[in-house]
Amino acid sequence: MARIEGVCREVSDATEYVCIVTHGPQGPHLAGHWGNYMLIDEAGETVLFPIGRFQRTEQNLRADARIQLMVASRKVQGTRSPGQGCVIEGQGEVVIAGDDLERVRQKFPWARGALVVRVTATSTQL
Ligand SMILES: Cc1cc2nc3c(=O)[nH]c(=O)nc-3n(C[C@H](O)[C@H](O)[C@H](O)COP(=O)(O)O)c2cc1C
Repeated sequence: MARIEGVCREVSDATEYVCIVTHGPQGPHLAGHWGNYMLIDEAGETVLFPIGRFQRTEQNLRADARIQLMVASRKVQGTRSPGQGCVIEGQGEVVIAGDDLERVRQKFPWARGALVVRVTATSTQL
C-alpha cells in the first residue's frame, strides 16, 4: 500500500483546504474540505474526514470507489520555488458506524459519517 509521507505529508499538514474528486454518472464530481479536518493515520495509509453532507460523493463511491485528493501549500518548498502540491489517490468509502466514525467523532462530534480514503498512490505537482 502507498503512504502519505515525506513532502506529501508536509503538504497535507499545511494545506488550507482539500479538493476531493469522485466519479459520477455525469463525469467528475468535485467536493471540498478544510485541511485541518483531514485526519491521516500514523502510517500515512488512511485518511479520514468528518462529513455532514457529501451525499453525491457517497453515492458516487458506492458505484466507483476511486477517489483523488489534492492538497497544496506555499509554505512547503517545491522543486524550483516555494509551494508544493500533492495528489493523493485511493479507494474511498463513506461509513456511518464503526471505529473510523468513532475516531472522527472524537474531534468532530457533529459528523454524520466518515469519509475513509485508503491511499493507493501519491505524486507531487511542483
Ligand atoms: C473548504 C471547504 C470546506 C468544507 N467543509 C465541509 C465540512 O466540514 N462538512 C461538510 O459536510 N461539507 C463541507 N464542505 C462542503 C462540501 O464540499 C459540499 O457539501 C460538497 O458539495 C459535498 O457534498 P456532495 O458530495 O453532496 O456534493 C466544505 C467545502 C469546502 C470547499
